Amino acid sequence: MRSSDTATAPQTGRTAVVTGGSGGIGSAIAGVLARQGATVVVVDASDRAEAVAEEIGGIAVVEDLTDPESPTRIVDRAVAAAGSVDILVNAAGIQVRTAAVDIDPEDWERLVAVNLTAAYRLTQAATKALAAARGAIVNIVSLSADRAVAGIVPYGATKAGLVQLTKGLAVELGPLGIRVNAVAPGYVRTPMTEVMLDQPEFRDRVLQRIPLGRLADGEDIADVVAFLASDAARYMTGTVLPVDGGYAIT
Ligand SMILES: NC(=O)c1ccc[n+]([C@@H]2O[C@H](COP(=O)([O-])OP(=O)(O)OC[C@H]3O[C@@H](n4cnc5c(N)ncnc54)[C@H](O)[C@@H]3O)[C@@H](O)[C@H]2O)c1
Repeated sequence: MRSSDTATAPQTGRTAVVTGGSGGIGSAIAGVLARQGATVVVVDASDRAEAVAEEIGGIAVVEDLTDPESPTRIVDRAVAAAGSVDILVNAAGIQVRTAAVDIDPEDWERLVAVNLTAAYRLTQAATKALAAARGAIVNIVSLSADRAVAGIVPYGATKAGLVQLTKGLAVELGPLGIRVNAVAPGYVRTPMTEVMLDQPEFRDRVLQRIPLGRLADGEDIADVVAFLASDAARYMTGTVLPVDGGYAIT
């Protein structure tokens, strides 16, 4: 049984905006927060957001986060529909696999726009509402933020940027009562990673480095996100928690 099933409903009465909410990890986060009592606003560029929202009793907002106007629309929609923004989870992300020096300039721009700029803009748009709620932000980063991984160097650079944004915003927004933390997932098989993890050799190499002996599933990550967003983590800000089965220590 999952911890999120046994917990009392720590997010009752709260509104959580989850970007990438129809993706592998984001949909698990949306599901756990909903089961813990939150009204979840499922934000994604894909209209799969509608099915996820329907399943968890949440609100779908289909928006491309690279549109500079989208953060304001998302926050306005959340406040209009649910009255507040108490939790913001920036889980939308993309990956481009290529040697860094060969990356297409448009791919570089898109990586930065989705993985870094969108989280920053949405935070900016939501700050007033989050301050009113004394809320929490959780950013989804990556182990590649502080490890050099050939083939996803630009992706790692955007995630390193998001780690530093997490820490800097924790300092600036702490006085407003907003906590800002991050989770660095290990390997989860999702549409982003299945190309790699479905290659038996790659998968075996990864598994050999994981002390807990299995890949993560979305809920392994989501439970820790929900913890960081809850009052149980009320004295935590500016932290980056790896949720990786021990991968990073091997
Ligand atoms: N899967 C892993 O092993 C892993 C490991 C470390 C970090 N992460 C991070 O976790 C997060 C979720 O990844 P995932 O594995 O669930 O991938 P995923 O591809 O399943 O989900 C990503 C979601 O983001 C959405 N998205 C992409 N661009 C968008 C845009 N412009 N506007 C709105 N939505 C957009 C996609 O539609 C998708 O639903 C990402 O930030 C990723 O970098 C994943």
